[in-house]
Amino acid sequence: MKKWARRISYVLITMVCVGLGLALAGKLLGERKLARQVAVPARQLEVAADPARVGHGRYLFNTRGCADCHGANGAGQTVLRDGAMLVVSPNISPGENSVTRHYRAADWVRTVRHGVKPDGTPVMIMPSEDYNRLSDADMAALLAYLTQLPPAPGVHAVIKLPVRVKALYALGAIKDAAEKIDHAAPPPAPVEAGISAAHGAYLANTCMGCHGPQLAGGTIPGAPSAWPPTANLTPGKGSVMPRYPSPELFMATLRSGKRPDGSAISEVMPFGSLKQMTDTDLRALYAYLKTLPPHDSK
Ligand code: HEC
Ligand code: HEC
Repeated sequence: MKKWARRISYVLITMVCVGLGLALAGKLLGERKLARQVAVPARQLEVAADPARVGHGRYLFNTRGCADCHGANGAGQTVLRDGAMLVVSPNISPGENSVTRHYRAADWVRTVRHGVKPDGTPVMIMPSEDYNRLSDADMAALLAYLTQLPPAPGVHAVIKLPVRVKALYALGAIKDAAEKIDHAAPPPAPVEAGISAAHGAYLANTCMGCHGPQLAGGTIPGAPSAWPPTANLTPGKGSVMPRYPSPELFMATLRSGKRPDGSAISEVMPFGSLKQMTDTDLRALYAYLKTLPPHDSK
């Protein structure tokens, strides 16, 4: 009996040690991956900041999530606090604690479109994969707006992740934006803004970081367990689209955060930015979602 008890305890101790070893290895590998260098092609953009361009840039800043995460003035803020996880976005205005004070145009483009900071290391949380498909015209407008942000005192970035998330990141089950992006792909050709599926497809790039590349929804990898899975926006099994037989119902939901039956949708959905989208943009998104091939919910 005694011998068995001893043996079992040896096995248990070994298992605990192996577990701790794996967790430590995962943590170290995750940290090493975050410190890796990512090479991206440089691209020059013409950025004469006329008022119309700055105005369009402000619209993009407000509707594509930048304001949601970095604050309306760009000063940075706590984006997520959940148990061992803490994410604070940095000050991207030229005020106190600015991360962008020494940015040149190429640095903005590399960070926003490629998810790679000026020192060559990847961003972890910022969804640059959604912004990689910005046209040159939109990227230039965004740049015109970003580079005239008034200085606001703000905060430095903080990215504290649970060991589990770091290990999954090391293993590739959670990917950073720079890993998801095809850095060699040229920017898309501009699509004329209007109520068309083509313009909607362009806008839907902002939804893919959460709803997935096929917009079929599912769990966001690495997200806190309290977050609901994202909705299936295709017509496949489990789709939410039957709730939206008209573009008006869809628009009302994206602006109010409430489904047609009045129930509230999780605030993980970025309603702060979506509700500022123009009628044209929301109608175009709806027109595009209606053309999607079916995928079943996972
Ligand atoms: C989901 C939240 C989120 C959204 C949306 C977001 N960011 Fe970020 N951003 C962050 C976080 C967090 C960091 C810190 C780096 C990281 O992710 O590891 C960051 C970093 C940055 C940096 C500094 C990178 C460096 O360290 O040099 C810039 C510049 C930036 N974001 C600009 C933008 C712009 C412009 C947009 C909109 C097009 C945007 N961000 C959208 C969360 C976000
Ligand atoms: C930051 C992540 C995130 C982004 C970005 C995002 N969504 Fe969502 N979305 C969610 C989550 C999470 C849910 C599920 C919410 C729930 O079940 O309460 C959801 C649910 C929805 C729903 C379902 C409403 C219903 O009837 O239940 C629609 C429609 C939707 N999103 C459309 C979009 C569109 C269109 C975009 C892009 C313009 C977008 N979302 C961008 C996270 C996101």
